[in-house]
Amino acid sequence: MGVRLQGFNVFITGGSCGMGYEMAKELLSRGATVVISARGVEKLNKAYEKLKSEGYDVYSIPLDVTNEESVNNAVTWYKEHFDHLDMLVNNAGIGNNAPGMISIKDNKHFYDIPVSTFKSIVETNFNGIFLVSRAFVPIMIEKGKGRIVNVSTSASTMTRKGMIPYGPSKAAMEAMSTILSEELKEFEITVNIICPGGPTDTDMTTEEMKTFFNENDIPILKSNILNKTILFLASPNADGLTGEKIIGKEFNEWLKNRNISFEC
Ligand SMILES: NC(=O)c1ccc[n+]([C@@H]2O[C@H](COP(=O)([O-])OP(=O)(O)OC[C@H]3O[C@@H](n4cnc5c(N)ncnc54)[C@H](OP(=O)(O)O)[C@@H]3O)[C@@H](O)[C@H]2O)c1
Repeated sequence: MGVRLQGFNVFITGGSCGMGYEMAKELLSRGATVVISARGVEKLNKAYEKLKSEGYDVYSIPLDVTNEESVNNAVTWYKEHFDHLDMLVNNAGIGNNAPGMISIKDNKHFYDIPVSTFKSIVETNFNGIFLVSRAFVPIMIEKGKGRIVNVSTSASTMTRKGMIPYGPSKAAMEAMSTILSEELKEFEITVNIICPGGPTDTDMTTEEMKTFFNENDIPILKSNILNKTILFLASPNADGLTGEKIIGKEFNEWLKNRNISFEC
């Protein structure tokens, strides 16, 4: 029969394209109610219209995860429309596609990165998770349950040459996620990390990067690589599971190693 998610409410940051959009669509197709959010209103509306035209129970709200007022407005709007939140997916992120980011071909150093670019990547990938989580968590605490899923990157990306500040921003985010998973146990709120497990075919992976990966025989993953993992984390099979990092590409092995049978 597979996973059914009627009555299951999800809020996804960065749901207008890429992996966020794919995860939203997967959850919607199982009956969940999903709110997608992002900064760019045009792209967000297009994604919303597409999902709505397919008959899904989808909503959208503009949101900049780096802006406290924008985050608070989204929470106010959410509370006006819904009485509970089952899952928050902190997916919004920027990397080599960030304005001012150095080209992959340039072979430059960390000191060549404009300070404004450094700050915007850290603010999005690290501060943003803090701002969004602290604003939405009270809704979960009130109901005594909830799931937070934070989208990260591979461990090797965190410390690889040329990955400042993207890698460290995700490393800090993972450290924060682990602390959140401990602190929120008393409220029955779980916190887990997911990541694709390699470069993925989304807007974040620029054409220049795709060429580089192709030339170096590095496989590019499909943008739906996290769908099965997010479905699992939304399902009753993941009840109580917290503090984990699951790699989308290796999800089947992860299940096998833990003797978990999951029919999606
Ligand atoms: N692509 C990869 O190779 C790869 C690999 C490992 C991990 N990841 C991670 O996967 C996640 C999803 O990335 P993706 O590859 O699917 O990228 P994507 O296609 O570029 O999507 C990123 C989404 O985040 C939104 N966003 C960016 N900044 C935001 C902000 N300040 N506030 C709210 N929304 C914001 C974007 O919309 P707006 O720009 O309109 O706001 C968009 O909806 C990210 O956390 C990324 O770090 C990606």
